[in-house]
Amino acid sequence: MCGIVGYVGPRPSVDVVVGGLRKLEYRGYDSAGVAVIGPGGLTISRAKGKLKNLVDRLAEKPLTGRTAIGHTRWATHGRPSDENAHPHSYKGVAVVHNGIIENHMELKAELTGKGHKFASETDTEIFAHLISDAMIKGGDDLSQAVRDTLKQVKGTYAMAVVSEKRPNEIVAAKNASPLVLGYGVGEAFLASDVPAILEHTREVSYLEEGELAHLGPEGIRIENERGETVTRAPHHVEWSSVAAEKDGHKHFMHKEIFEQPRAVADTIRGRISLEQGDVTLDGLELTEAYVKGLSKITIVACGTSWHAGLCGRNMIESLARIQVEVELASEFRYRDPLVDEKTLVLAISQSGETADTLAAVKESKRRGARAVSICNVIGASIPRDCDGTLYTRAGPEIGVASTKAFTTQLAALFLLGVKLGRLRGTLSAEQARPHLEALRHVPAQMEQVLRQEPAVMPVAKRCAKARDVLFLGRNSQHPVALEGALKLKEISYIHAEGYAAGEMKHGPIALIDENLPVVVIATKEPHYEKTLGNMEEVKARGGEVFAVVSEGDNLAASLASVALCVPACPPLLSPLLTILPLQFLSYHVADLRGTDVDQPRNLAKSVTVE
Ligand code: M6R
Repeated sequence: MCGIVGYVGPRPSVDVVVGGLRKLEYRGYDSAGVAVIGPGGLTISRAKGKLKNLVDRLAEKPLTGRTAIGHTRWATHGRPSDENAHPHSYKGVAVVHNGIIENHMELKAELTGKGHKFASETDTEIFAHLISDAMIKGGDDLSQAVRDTLKQVKGTYAMAVVSEKRPNEIVAAKNASPLVLGYGVGEAFLASDVPAILEHTREVSYLEEGELAHLGPEGIRIENERGETVTRAPHHVEWSSVAAEKDGHKHFMHKEIFEQPRAVADTIRGRISLEQGDVTLDGLELTEAYVKGLSKITIVACGTSWHAGLCGRNMIESLARIQVEVELASEFRYRDPLVDEKTLVLAISQSGETADTLAAVKESKRRGARAVSICNVIGASIPRDCDGTLYTRAGPEIGVASTKAFTTQLAALFLLGVKLGRLRGTLSAEQARPHLEALRHVPAQMEQVLRQEPAVMPVAKRCAKARDVLFLGRNSQHPVALEGALKLKEISYIHAEGYAAGEMKHGPIALIDENLPVVVIATKEPHYEKTLGNMEEVKARGGEVFAVVSEGDNLAASLASVALCVPACPPLLSPLLTILPLQFLSYHVADLRGTDVDQPRNLAKSVTVE
């Protein structure tokens, strides 16, 4: 997804901006560029491909100045190319933009009629033309020009604009896509995400919907839609910039897999009272009366967070005995969903910026439901739109393939399940205690599983040569099968399917032969004999089985070419362990195939467009 960085102040602005863009590479992009207002006016450098291409270009032809904006582009309108890379400019105005202008065709036709000529295929270039025209009409007032332009535009945007007529100013505006403002002394920063500016400042605030910000050496001023000044105190970010670095690992994903015991322990920390057999969920104001009056819980999420939601359904239904639906946010928002004031809508999102999940929250609220979220990024759009948020404490997740976000979401969902059980009276303190003890034990068990990384290598070598891989799991392990398949396909580009083991005979069994590796999660849980039966069925058809099994289970292990062991754990919590070998599997397959593990092709870390 596109990334924006801006800087105004005494430092070499291009270095600050390019350094920030580097920290946003995780979002996925296909070209990059920077615009600077220097002594000679506006200059721009852009390059298709990785940031290195832009850096090489800047080394050949350096740009200097005190005010700069930069961008990493993830193509939506127009192919990746130098011409389509941002910033886009017109008559001394340069713009970077994240989002989509829906009425760009009409606007372009209108402008073309007035004699404007366009240099790119993008929707964004419209902004530069409109703002430049508005400045001419409005006496060089950049923010008024931006405001006038935004009135004509339909769509989503986070944008930053510079003009050579206002050399010490950046104007930024936001609608739907995130923008973080960074505060310094005699300088100001702007970015799509905190890691981009963390090296320079920890004092940040978020621009809200419809707001506009002026950044200059004198500081930052925020205005609302009516042009009134908004007072907002910056908050202090605790994450260190080192937390966003690779720390000796070959890839962020590898580092993040290993961070999971710490991340899960942090997510649980201070929220469990074994003495009271209860949970404190800061940020979610759930009272007994409210919870008892609920008819159902509807979870909305995308991708890995949706898989976490499927695990969450098992947890909440089992612990709190309330109906839980799990919806793909991208479908929910368009299908006239049945939610009302007796529904608690729970949005799950690592980034808190996923456009479909955010839209599902808005739609639920419009229909009278209360919406809360589980999120990893404090102050992101989804928590800001929700009535309460339970934050996971995974720390920044940089690899596009979600790992620690998933397991921390599972821990948060389990805490929520226990809390709802206590409030609804389906769990007494005595009954809650063993669940909480089991959860507390999980980080140590995760450490144990992580030590077995080398055992995955033979499976990875086999799967790296496969065209397709099938993942099977039953009950609690069905979402794990889905997640294992998603991980493999997104980073290794091998086609993978996750299936409920019992569904195999209804279709996928036709695929089985010696060319299709089948990964079965066959931990000792209720009805696991049936999963062993599925393994036999695969073998009988010449298929090769790899399995995740419970430690000491020789029977299950004997049915697999390679068995990866996890310690015994209650079924509701075991996905926190069984997913780990599958994360390793996808990681090593991708690494063996030499793909771009942290930034797989076509994918973005944070999907802020529909
Ligand atoms: O930030 P979110 O949790 O809302 O993101 C949702 C999905 O885009 C995300 O989980 C995606 O599926 C990951 N790439 C999976 O690894």
